[in-house]
Amino acid sequence: MCGIIGYKGKDNVIEVLISGLKKLEYRGYDSAGIAVKGDTVQVIKSVGRISDLEEKVNNTKIIDTDMGIAHTRWATHGEVNEDNAHPHRVGKITLVHNGIIENAEELRNQLMSDGVVFNSNTDTEVIAALMNSYYENSMEDAIEKTINDLRGSYALGIICDDSDKLYAVRCQSPLILGISDNGTFITSDIGAILNYTNKYSLLGENEIVTIDNNGYKIIKNGKEVHRDVMTSDLTDEDNDLHGYSHYMLKEIMEEPVLVNNLINKYSNDLDKLPDLSKYDSIHIIGCGSAYYAGMIGKNLFEEDGIKVDCDVASEYRYRNIIYNDKTLVILISQSGETADTIAAMRKAMENNIDTLAIVNVDGSTIAREATYKVLIEAGREVAVATTKAYILQVLILSLLSYKLKPDNKYLSDLKKLPQQLNVLLDRTGYFKKLADSIYKRNDVFFIGRKIDYAICLEGSLKLKEVSYIHSDAYQAGELKHGTISLVEDGTVVFGIVTDDFIRDKTISNLEEAISRGAKAIYVGTENTKYDDQIIVPKVHSKLQPILVVPVLQIIAYYVALKRGCDIDKPKNLAKSVTVE
Ligand code: AGP
Repeated sequence: MCGIIGYKGKDNVIEVLISGLKKLEYRGYDSAGIAVKGDTVQVIKSVGRISDLEEKVNNTKIIDTDMGIAHTRWATHGEVNEDNAHPHRVGKITLVHNGIIENAEELRNQLMSDGVVFNSNTDTEVIAALMNSYYENSMEDAIEKTINDLRGSYALGIICDDSDKLYAVRCQSPLILGISDNGTFITSDIGAILNYTNKYSLLGENEIVTIDNNGYKIIKNGKEVHRDVMTSDLTDEDNDLHGYSHYMLKEIMEEPVLVNNLINKYSNDLDKLPDLSKYDSIHIIGCGSAYYAGMIGKNLFEEDGIKVDCDVASEYRYRNIIYNDKTLVILISQSGETADTIAAMRKAMENNIDTLAIVNVDGSTIAREATYKVLIEAGREVAVATTKAYILQVLILSLLSYKLKPDNKYLSDLKKLPQQLNVLLDRTGYFKKLADSIYKRNDVFFIGRKIDYAICLEGSLKLKEVSYIHSDAYQAGELKHGTISLVEDGTVVFGIVTDDFIRDKTISNLEEAISRGAKAIYVGTENTKYDDQIIVPKVHSKLQPILVVPVLQIIAYYVALKRGCDIDKPKNLAKSVTVE
């Protein structure tokens, strides 16, 4: 969940590192640091945002250098302070790390018994100390011996006092090689270097990269390895706000066009999508919003007569799962690097089960390893709170469900969706007004049944993760079994009602809350008596969530705006959770 960038070449190293960190800040922003090498190694670290580090660097005399490493941290081991910030330096070794070393304490104790004194309580400093203990005159040997001792996940950028080369190695955590005419990069995400190059190579696990003035070499177990050089279709443009005040708002407003793109791609050529009809049970696995998108999929495929189990990856990976040879495991992930979801995928594949990745980042671990993949083509999603990616995940699930049971109404409603979404998102004034009535509340509940409950899950997560208001989603019938005790005068309760079959049931649950003082906000497809109601067009049930969730996303945005929250980088969160 941290961001790494390293560089050796002719471009201005500080500019490469700082601009790269700014584009990696979404991966973690507790603290940051850089290390550059010239005649000596210079390390500058800072708690806080990249801008704090940049100010410190600008006020420091920097040595002559053509290489460096940098890191932005999301704390996993050790509190947020400068000692725990990366890069970590022990003896002749300076390095940055993304991942978690599971045997760090054992290694730390061994090293301490050999006299090593640690300045931080991070697993990263243990790696640096271990590598320094192995280093004699070959960095490749020292790295090889170090990674043989490590258990867990790591992406490392490494500098050695005695060498003018930059080194890197990864296992489980993402790290790619960037290649330009002026030099060579290592980075957690190609988005960090798009203003320098879009040429990149993916690194295999435990492949050691050595970068010098003539380019780079990749070795594994002492043998040179070749990796294809690919060209990303992303541009630095994808990082631009295009006049919006936040990436979250920009990415919500991109939804109509992106939905339209996928409709155009698949509506007349369903053969491009995998055929699920040969499976008799489907497991849909993900984390956070990806899991909630899976809950929409569960409702859709069950209506198609398929047995569906939907679970969070962090549970699924440890459950005793009963597979049969007609099971399909669908992994949903925007980043394609979420550690728990990767583990769930590998568990299925170890049981020779087909896996389908519904993923945004091509070339990511999940995209590369799954049996089948469908790219959601959301473009780069920068805001930590996912919006457009979630909507496109749901659209792909909807299209897969339609392919199982085609019908004309679906197809005609599908083509109207982008314009209807445009119209809905234009109602900004009303959403802002609603946000005014919510932003001071301490509790906001969402209730709904069946697919409406799945919508509530995402609506509630969006609100709480960007506005820090406590929020929960409940099956509408569940509220009275306990949580209704929390309802008091003015408590906001969203009632999501799009399923005609259970409309009256949810309305009566909403009334139960209102009779105890709740302020109801109805979101549905039929007009009601409620003062605060958002009516969305009635469309095919398999498409309905795609018109409701964006409304909840934009309300969450305006509530967070009113509360002055750091909308694109909410506290304690990271965009891609690449550790357990
Ligand atoms: C969503 O707004 C959150 N940022 C988080 O729940 C996210 O959906 C989850 O971490 C899964 O990430 P992934 O889609 O990249 O696997």
